[in-house]
Amino acid sequence: MRLVIFGPPGAGKGTQAGLLEQRRGITQVSTGDILRAAMDQETELGRKAKSYIEAGELVPDALVRQLAEQAIADEGYDDFVLDGYPRTEQQAAWLTEFLTAHDTPLNAVVSLDVPDDELVRRLSRRRVHADTGETYHLDHDPPPEDVDDDLIVQRSDDKPETIRNRLNVYRDETAPLASYYEDRGLLVSVDGTGGIEEVFERIVEVLESRAHSA
Ligand code: AP5
Repeated sequence: MRLVIFGPPGAGKGTQAGLLEQRRGITQVSTGDILRAAMDQETELGRKAKSYIEAGELVPDALVRQLAEQAIADEGYDDFVLDGYPRTEQQAAWLTEFLTAHDTPLNAVVSLDVPDDELVRRLSRRRVHADTGETYHLDHDPPPEDVDDDLIVQRSDDKPETIRNRLNVYRDETAPLASYYEDRGLLVSVDGTGGIEEVFERIVEVLESRAHSA
């Protein structure tokens, strides 16, 4: 299956894409994770991306295009869920062109709907494992007790002012892609509120009903 998981910062894209990978064998391709790993390793890409990410701005299209296309090719053009790509009209057009050229169009774009106040609550209470990148939430999904506290850190773009900017950037540049995919009959909206398992069940249900009606 070829999917995009779509939604604002904090909607649960990474959490749900991770579950699709663990439980359904659909590989999670997260441009955010790839960029953060490049920053940690201080590669040229990481150095270029750092200032954009820390300001809550988008990294230039051309840089992420290459990452996303390489990751899709590595998966043999199938069984992937794109988390955080595409994010601009240019990226969406490139993705359509790239997948069409390989005769592997998207099956669906799952859009997670979550109100803004809940997004802010989720992002400000998110923590990550410094080594593994595993994501936690201090209230809903706390780190296991045997994990060293020093390894549980806050993402550099989860500061309140950066969160606000990321939400604005999402509204201006990324949210319009919902109509791009709706026009192509690919958009499926899922209520992203409630527990992590509840949201996962909703996603599986809409994907199954879409597969049956195809
Ligand atoms: P990226 O890493 O993609 O960040 P994002 O889109 O802002 O999304 P997040 O990772 O913040 O949130 P999420 O929706 O994955 O939520 P999560 O599952 O973690 O990108 C970071 C930056 O990289 C961008 O700002 C940009 O600079 C750059 N970038 C990346 N891709 C790019 C591209 N294509 N073009 C240009 N630039 C790009 O959940 C959030 C929290 O909520 C967690 O703590 C989680 O445990 C908790 N949670 C999840 N689900 C629930 C639930 N149902 N109930 C309660 N808590 C929940």
